[in-house]
Amino acid sequence: MNVFIELGYLGAALSFILGLKLMSSPKRAQTGILVAAIGMFLAISCTLIAVYSFEVPSVNVLIIISALILGIWGGQRMAVQVEMTAMPQLVSLFNATGGGCAMLLGLIEMHTWESVVLSQGTAYQLLLLIGSLTGAIAFTGSIVAYLKLAGKIKDVHQTTYTILARVFIVIIFGSCLLFYLGFIPISISVFTYSVIGLSFVYGVLFVLPIGGADMPVVISLLNAITGIATALAGFMQENKAMIAGGIFVGAAGLLLTLLMCKAMNRSLVNVLAGHFNKTTNPGEDTPQTIQETSVAETITQLSFAQKIGVIPGYGMAIAQAQHECYQLQKVLEAQDKSIDYIIHPVAGRMPGHMNVLLAEAKIDYDYLKEMDSVNTLMETYDMLLVIGANDVVNPAAETNTASPIYGMPIIKAYQSKKIIVMKRGMSTGYAGIQNELFEKENCRLLFGDAKKSLQEIVSQMKMMN
Ligand code: TAP
Repeated sequence: MNVFIELGYLGAALSFILGLKLMSSPKRAQTGILVAAIGMFLAISCTLIAVYSFEVPSVNVLIIISALILGIWGGQRMAVQVEMTAMPQLVSLFNATGGGCAMLLGLIEMHTWESVVLSQGTAYQLLLLIGSLTGAIAFTGSIVAYLKLAGKIKDVHQTTYTILARVFIVIIFGSCLLFYLGFIPISISVFTYSVIGLSFVYGVLFVLPIGGADMPVVISLLNAITGIATALAGFMQENKAMIAGGIFVGAAGLLLTLLMCKAMNRSLVNVLAGHFNKTTNPGEDTPQTIQETSVAETITQLSFAQKIGVIPGYGMAIAQAQHECYQLQKVLEAQDKSIDYIIHPVAGRMPGHMNVLLAEAKIDYDYLKEMDSVNTLMETYDMLLVIGANDVVNPAAETNTASPIYGMPIIKAYQSKKIIVMKRGMSTGYAGIQNELFEKENCRLLFGDAKKSLQEIVSQMKMMN
């Protein structure tokens, strides 16, 4: 029986690898998710078979099955009901459960070692300790991230929290080292409970002061921490599927963290240290001189343009205007015009936000262009439609050293021949700063909900055809 269980875990680990590989291509991503889900099903089935073959007490079986039913019911409900714009919050919640599970596994294992002092022990106990700590940090950190993203608690840009967080991390790792060297002669169980308590507090202090554009980076980092905690729990349990799954999540989370740091021009050290640029543009409150446009004028401009680019942003997600984008694409293509969707890596509120929305509207991935691949070709665009994007096209990132987004790579929309920005009013974007693009000579603002504006444009263009 044991051989079959081990083979099953190996099969699950291989499914995760294959699933991830398939997910790297948007076209095969759905198959990838299915393959990874089959792997997870296999891993859970093997665990249940193991439970059966090891003659676990029936009350434990009852607890396991109840937890499975609760997990499937809750997970399915949350995943179906969640709005695309609330996806980062859901990811944070799932992250918290992963971290919490890894921590609990550490605690359960610890009871088998209760009488052992770590300094006399092996690497096993060290893994147990680190797994529990990282799980606890990921647990409270992810809950705070969820509450912040859901707007239930506000950003607290206070250096006190950052300093306290640093003090806590030094205490946590310092005491672990002292304990390992035998300077703290208490049982591993008392010690682990104490440092887990400290790690809970650290998780809160770590995420609380981080705000603004650093939140996605933090979520991805917490994801990586959860992965590491899971892999360590897998080592403790000698469970291959858990080790492989944890390593994948840890590695993918870390890679994504680094990629996002690059896209937002933030160093990971600065994010972790809670450093953020609080300087704002001195002229931030002065009204901007802008040129407004109308639906009719937008249609006229579109009729003159041959090569058109659409830059979607968070506002497109809010307006749910992706289907109207597709309608416009069809009308423009019927007039033999070319259209591209230019995607900034951190447009919206989560990695791949725009890609997912456009895919939902059945827009082919071939139409999607990455920022870096088109920034050198901006002058070739006759017209750009900026649909609910703001920070990602703000030239202040290149020109204004006092701006909080200074240094963040942007889509160089200002270099194109004509730009029309669709937004409801003069509200700022996520970074909370004015957009210098709106004052450019080649830029016009079309005020109104993006979906309604696009609907009007499409229906009038259809009537004219
Ligand atoms: P933002 O800079 O947030 O701008 C969104 C714009 O959409 C606003 O100017 C808003 O102006 C407009 N808008 C809102 N509702 C609209 C509607 N119904 N119709 C038309 N326009 C609407 O968006 P962005 O350019 O996509 O930039 C993303 C920002 O979020 C970056 O600063 C990024 O660092 C940050 N961020 C990204 C992520 C990830 S991983 N993608 C996660 C967290 C934060 P009005 O209110 O005036 O309409």
